[in-house]
Amino acid sequence: MNKFTRIGFILAAAGSAVGLGNIWKFPYITGEFGGGAFVIVYLLAIVFVGLGVFIAESLIGQTGESDVATSFVKMSNSKNPNWKFAGFMILAGLLILSFYSVVLGWILNYVVSSFSSLPTEASAAGATFGALTKDIGTQLFYHTLIAGTVIFIVLKGIKDGIEKVNLILMPLLAIILFGLLLYSISLDSFSKAVSFMFVPDWSKIDEHALLAALGQAFFTLSLATGTMITYSASLPKDANFVKTSMSVALIDTMVALISGLIIFTFLFEAGSPSAAGPGLVFISLPVIFSGWGFLGQFIAISFFVALVFAGITSAVSMIEPSLLFFIERFKMTRQKATIIAGSTFYSLGIIALLSMSDSWGETLTFFGKNAFDWMDFISSSILMPLGALLTCVFIGFYVDKKILEEKFLQHTSIIVFNVWYSLVKYFIPIAVIILFINKLGLI
Ligand code: PFF
Repeated sequence: MNKFTRIGFILAAAGSAVGLGNIWKFPYITGEFGGGAFVIVYLLAIVFVGLGVFIAESLIGQTGESDVATSFVKMSNSKNPNWKFAGFMILAGLLILSFYSVVLGWILNYVVSSFSSLPTEASAAGATFGALTKDIGTQLFYHTLIAGTVIFIVLKGIKDGIEKVNLILMPLLAIILFGLLLYSISLDSFSKAVSFMFVPDWSKIDEHALLAALGQAFFTLSLATGTMITYSASLPKDANFVKTSMSVALIDTMVALISGLIIFTFLFEAGSPSAAGPGLVFISLPVIFSGWGFLGQFIAISFFVALVFAGITSAVSMIEPSLLFFIERFKMTRQKATIIAGSTFYSLGIIALLSMSDSWGETLTFFGKNAFDWMDFISSSILMPLGALLTCVFIGFYVDKKILEEKFLQHTSIIVFNVWYSLVKYFIPIAVIILFINKLGLI
């Protein structure tokens, strides 16, 4: 198998982790839960839950050097073939990609429309965004462009496709974000954004905030989708998987915090509310940019381009687990695997976008949720918690502790191992079970 270089792995894994989850979702949920206190809860969720699972996935991948299902089997005690069922995790990535591609399409549409004009009022911006989510033709066009780009990249494989694209897009993303950060620092409201994000107001923290932080920690680190296991299968054998995991989690967290600072500075500068919800990026920001004239237009384009770059590197990582699975387990060529996985997510994406339209909405709504929301619900509320739980139970109870300890001791101390092992065996499964039960609305 063609392996990543160590830096190539970090960039690709960070490329997967850093996406719409960091630049769009993190700021809007932080806004909804009142800022600073939520940021603290989120950071705790990243360190004590997300990072633990990330390290576990990376270890499984690096040891197995294969697709998700085979890697689980190889690592299990007495190589139990039943563990191939862990391969179900690849479905989560494909399902997320189906609607992620549609959302990335919206953003690409915003890049293009930012060149001509930006809405000057919130009501007009809301109407434009609402109309876009119902416009079948435009969404289909952009979804096709995004899906085509993703397919084109993964057809070239890990080294010539995924690694190369990340080597180009991640530094560009860093440059744009850095530029936007410098601009926000120059604005008066920057200090207000800093206090909003780092001075805790505990009054808004309830169980919903805790669950949102936990769910976001999984989503932002691309966990329980087979992504990190698959990427780590191409991590050089001697690379320190604990250190690379920490680097990726750190980069991902930095990008989320920086995006939050940029976006809240912009919102406060314009006197807009911080709790704008999912419409924050699509409705609130364009209106603010339009008030800044030509500079605003330039910032709008840069911002949406950054989102597209971040999203594309995440999107390619969602399909790769399926490809490696088909290639290794069914001996398919990469082309054939890509055609199957690509046409699956492309078609599901079309169903997702149709389900928001007036003409198809009713047909594609089941039990009060449209197909788009179902895909989101099944992937992030069912498949991801199940995948994370399975990974932790697997490591805690079905892999020889001695083997795990040996792998850790090649790179770190016994203390690090013991902390990680207790987190993965006891603490994280309990946290995930609570998340799962809540997401299903059982309590
Ligand atoms: N981590 C990505 C984000 O924050 O946007 C989303 C993601 C990528 C989820 C890859 C799942 C995945 F397998």
